[in-house]
Amino acid sequence: MRSLLRVGVPLLLGLAVLAWMATIAVAETTRSWFTRDVELRARLAASGAQEGLASHLAAGEQRKVLKILEGLAQDERIMAAEVCTAAFLTVARTQRIPASFGCEGLEARRHGAGARDLPGELDAELDGGPVHLSVHAIRADGELRGYLVLFQDMSVAARRETAAKHFTIAVFAVVAVLASILTALVRRDSWRTWTQEFRRVLALAPRSPGLPSNGPAAFSPVLQDVRQLVEDLAKERASASGGRWSPERLQQTLRDALHGESVVILGNREPYVHERGADGAVRVLHPASGLVTALEPVMRACSGTWIAHGSGSADRDTVDACDRVRVPPGEESYAIRRVWLSKEEERGYYYGFSNEGLWALCHIAHARPEFRASDWQQYVTVNERFAKAVCDEVKGPDPVILVQDYHFALVPRMIRERLPRATIITFWHIPWPNAERLGICPWRREVLDGLLGSSVVGFHTQQHCNNFVEAVDRYLETRIDRERQSVVQGGRECLVRNYPISIEWPNRWAAAAPPAAECRHAVLAELGLDADALLGVGVDRLDYTKGIEERLLAVERALERFPHLRGRFTFAQLAAPSRTLIPRYAALNDAVEALAARINRRFASGTYRPIVLLRAHHEPPAIFRYLRAADVCYVSSLHDGMNLVAKEFVAARDDERGVLVLSQFTGAARELTEALVVNPYDLEEASAALATALQMPAAEQAERMRAMRAMVSELNVYRWAGRMLADAGRLRQRGRLSDRLSLGLRVVGGGRS
Ligand code: G6P
Repeated sequence: MRSLLRVGVPLLLGLAVLAWMATIAVAETTRSWFTRDVELRARLAASGAQEGLASHLAAGEQRKVLKILEGLAQDERIMAAEVCTAAFLTVARTQRIPASFGCEGLEARRHGAGARDLPGELDAELDGGPVHLSVHAIRADGELRGYLVLFQDMSVAARRETAAKHFTIAVFAVVAVLASILTALVRRDSWRTWTQEFRRVLALAPRSPGLPSNGPAAFSPVLQDVRQLVEDLAKERASASGGRWSPERLQQTLRDALHGESVVILGNREPYVHERGADGAVRVLHPASGLVTALEPVMRACSGTWIAHGSGSADRDTVDACDRVRVPPGEESYAIRRVWLSKEEERGYYYGFSNEGLWALCHIAHARPEFRASDWQQYVTVNERFAKAVCDEVKGPDPVILVQDYHFALVPRMIRERLPRATIITFWHIPWPNAERLGICPWRREVLDGLLGSSVVGFHTQQHCNNFVEAVDRYLETRIDRERQSVVQGGRECLVRNYPISIEWPNRWAAAAPPAAECRHAVLAELGLDADALLGVGVDRLDYTKGIEERLLAVERALERFPHLRGRFTFAQLAAPSRTLIPRYAALNDAVEALAARINRRFASGTYRPIVLLRAHHEPPAIFRYLRAADVCYVSSLHDGMNLVAKEFVAARDDERGVLVLSQFTGAARELTEALVVNPYDLEEASAALATALQMPAAEQAERMRAMRAMVSELNVYRWAGRMLADAGRLRQRGRLSDRLSLGLRVVGGGRS
């Protein structure tokens, strides 16, 4: 309705002016047609009577003249007629002619006009109605004998004019209403049309000469969520609080929605790790973790406390008496509260149940989930420890707590038992499996029940939300409210929502990095490559879900299929060792190493090696240098909740160069639709995408990169956090209202008893 008014009112005003002009034009046209018609009739009548009038005038037969005049006045349009002599004396006249229009009047008009001949036509009024007066000369043998004056009724013309005006106005009114409705509908559908256009453009996979066609689906993006995303953005823009999300807007949301309360985050991995080097000096490291990448900027914007496992070798030496340390170093805008774990606890809770159990269960990456009762026991114990730490940190009975990831599935329920009025938002950073697969976990009910202690449970995608709700439906006694997307258990509601995670924008690491050309120069020199080398880059933890083996195999296949790449194309894999105590990770480490060595042996020539495996922890400045130097970045995850490396690559490329080849099994593929989206298992498709990326024209690279940068800048991490905090604010508001209401009812009930 609002859009109807917004579009309709100006349109109606415009059409009203047009209608007014049109009615004037229509009235004048009607009048001139009618006048012409009247004149024609008068001329016909006059010429018909001419001969008789001339002879009767000559003969002085006044009665016969009158008879002819009365005959003329029988015509429905001729009201009256008069005949004058050439000297303007009345010869005969029918009734109703006022003196001012008679023969005397005509003479006066002739003098007034200063003309020799009388004016032929006049418009006047008779008995209050409009008349048309015409004067016709009566001649005989070329001599003027007198004048015939005819008075014709013009009221029909006036009636027709009014009818034409009404008709025009009615037509314009109908057109105006229809046009307003149509315009509003067109406006409403413009996003849909835009999405379809977007979809059409995206469907145009690059076709490079010499590359085999992989059919219409080649490198096609995952599009099902694009429309939803675009519609969400449109709604947000339309809302009063529109505008791009920034740290300032996030702070404002915190003030508005939660009255500026400080946020307490629980996340296993700490954002700053203090490590003591071999030289005894303490270094601060940024761990390789998507969770940390996303949440650290949020904490800097919101301040508060991050409760985490103190895992660094110098962590204990850097905390105060309350196990707290202020970070970031030099800026100190928030605190880390470190929780210490014994080796046994870490083995059971972190390596065991979290990473050998839940991690393997939630990712479709063909690693067998390991569930051991001893690990579960540690998981329960450690979750208790962290829940207690959270309750120690918060202020007041209804704090806002953000619980992060699969390490803490039981914590929401544990906090809820201690603080029933807390607002607990839990975000699950990895995929959520379908109900059948979840059934593998012997403690699935406890895990689900633990999470339902939250006020909101968040996932990256709607699919994961659906999987979660389905699992709750299958394994627990609850009521599912599908309309609100929530689970009601024991009278308490837990919302299930999707919040796709992202990175900070503008990105501080990208802003601090040297110009792209400088990065490229430095990286090529570092790797001993020529200036015209083609460089591919991968950045990951050494994790089997990342598809690193499939990535190297795709590079190998590209070299097999496209010989022009041999000797020129080098793929640098930055691989941070991760969870190395787990056998599956140790095996992956060995497999990747062996694979790189085999491919290098196969395609080596001179100093050329196609694969450079950089197995070490890299700090963000080094990672961004590589991302800015690359011709292509390949993110080949076999399954990934989101994958923030893909978004970091986009943030790194302010030069609008470089191509992203992206696995369709990442959450990011739903947003970065201008990447070359591939199935990493399909080596034909992936190798063709690599080759296509390496010879993509600069203009197309820029076009794709611009679109992806626009997307990430809008869907940044402040939006992710802001939407969650806004939801938390709304829930708290509702909770407080119902508290007051039940208090009121108790008071009333007490008064009665
Ligand atoms: C994934 C998880 C995070 C985790 C990160 C690094 O992104 O969702 O919770 O921090 O991997 O793994 P790590 O085991 O080193 O913390």
